[in-house]
Amino acid sequence: MRNETEPAADRSARRVTIDPEGPVLIDGPVEVRMPDGTTARSDRFMVALCTCRRSRRYPWCDTSHRRRTRGED
Ligand code: FES
Repeated sequence: MRNETEPAADRSARRVTIDPEGPVLIDGPVEVRMPDGTTARSDRFMVALCTCRRSRRYPWCDTSHRRRTRGED
């Protein structure tokens, strides 16, 4: 079992793309260490990490950042 505080053996660079109005996109697979100590894992080719905290599937983006407020078109 790998120590969760040690870097992964694979040292190749991951590409991270920041969407200023949405998620952070990361080449998958990824593991996300949550504040409660659990680990969320996604094996997708491209993973969208929520940065707005509105996602019902946090830490994964569910496009809730696109939600419009009343009066907007
Ligand atoms: S960034 Fe998309 S739901 Fe939060």
